[in-house]
Amino acid sequence: MKALKVNGDRLWDSLMEMAKIGATEKGGCRRLALTDLDKQGRELYIKWATEAGCTVKVDQIGNIMATRPGEDPDLAPVGTGSHLDTQPSGGKFDGVFGVLSGLEVVRRMNDLGIKTRHPIEISVWTNEEGSRFAPAMMGSGVVSGRFTLQEILDKTDVDGIRLGDELERIGFAGDTPVTGRNYHAFFETHIEQGPYLEAENKQIGVVTGGQGQRWYDVVISGRESHAGTTPMHLRKDALIAASQLVLKVEEIAKAHKPGCGTVGFMQVSPNSRNTIPGQISFSIDLRHPEDDQLTAMDADLQAAVEELAVSSGSDINLKQIWYYAPIPFASECISAVRSSAEALGYSHMDIIAGAGHDACYVSDFAPTSMIFTPCLDGISHNEIESTTKEECEAGCSVLLNAMLVMAGE
Ligand code: GLV
Ligand code: MN
Ligand code: MN
Ligand code: MN
Repeated sequence: MKALKVNGDRLWDSLMEMAKIGATEKGGCRRLALTDLDKQGRELYIKWATEAGCTVKVDQIGNIMATRPGEDPDLAPVGTGSHLDTQPSGGKFDGVFGVLSGLEVVRRMNDLGIKTRHPIEISVWTNEEGSRFAPAMMGSGVVSGRFTLQEILDKTDVDGIRLGDELERIGFAGDTPVTGRNYHAFFETHIEQGPYLEAENKQIGVVTGGQGQRWYDVVISGRESHAGTTPMHLRKDALIAASQLVLKVEEIAKAHKPGCGTVGFMQVSPNSRNTIPGQISFSIDLRHPEDDQLTAMDADLQAAVEELAVSSGSDINLKQIWYYAPIPFASECISAVRSSAEALGYSHMDIIAGAGHDACYVSDFAPTSMIFTPCLDGISHNEIESTTKEECEAGCSVLLNAMLVMAGE
């Protein structure tokens, strides 16, 4: 089979057009899940997918499926897709590249008059980021059965707004059932979001799996009191205890290479300059590519919390709110990605995904793999996240060929 290339200019133009929705001053994007901006992004995408001849459906958790018919309608689709929601100070490519790569694949198939036996389906998964509503990967998680529809609809954001109400409000509480979804194969294209492809000077990452994650909510309760009158030895400062735990998280991650540990969200109460903090709520995110190591990190965290409760005299509530074990991708999809990169003459290497991706949950019910492309200095979840038209074209061209291998011409 002759390797085909996509139209990199058209893909880039669409990426830049989508990036206007929620554009930030430093050149990034803020398009939080289920906000008015998410609605605008979704509507633009649906317009483009419809113009490309796709049939569009929305399911009960707001996932958008755009389908290009195949010659045999009884065959399961070959799928691709990612997410349109972003971090609060996110970039232009995290997620969007995977969605618009799928669209460019369909547009290119249309240009070339390509017919496939299997239908082609591009998914936009709801709330991949997990930033406004935790945890992450909710849309794909509901479809895979990792979460129930009801538990996700009932999640609330930091202001107490219910996810299901926001879905209704923006008009994306669809009626296609979340159950019974099937793919012949699924591929997700994504920027790497890390430094390895750039360091190794490779154009394509052949993603063989994703690392596991554990997310926690922590509440530390000390005692509020006056900043000027309470002697240092009589304080129960919840922020001091929280700070010690934050450092412990770093220590635990460093002791379990290549594990990662992050405290990214924190609320201080009453958050007043001259009152000793009485209560701190924060998040912990632990990740590791090996499950036994992730379990060991969890055990170390539990032990650290017990020790700190005694030494600080504060009450510490640690609650795990999310866990999934490392995910191995399917060998036939990994091979399709690798052989497509080779056929196109792109340099490539195998890589494990450090970030969470919808593909991780899709792999519960379908053979799946991912295609990574480099990003500048390995920076993502940052407004300055950057990549080039050529890198996007390469990743999307690998996607086109891998999908064609699985969809049968
Ligand atoms: C989301 O992008 C994550 O990997 O945390
Ligand atoms: Mn992403
Ligand atoms: Mn992300
Ligand atoms: Mn992610």
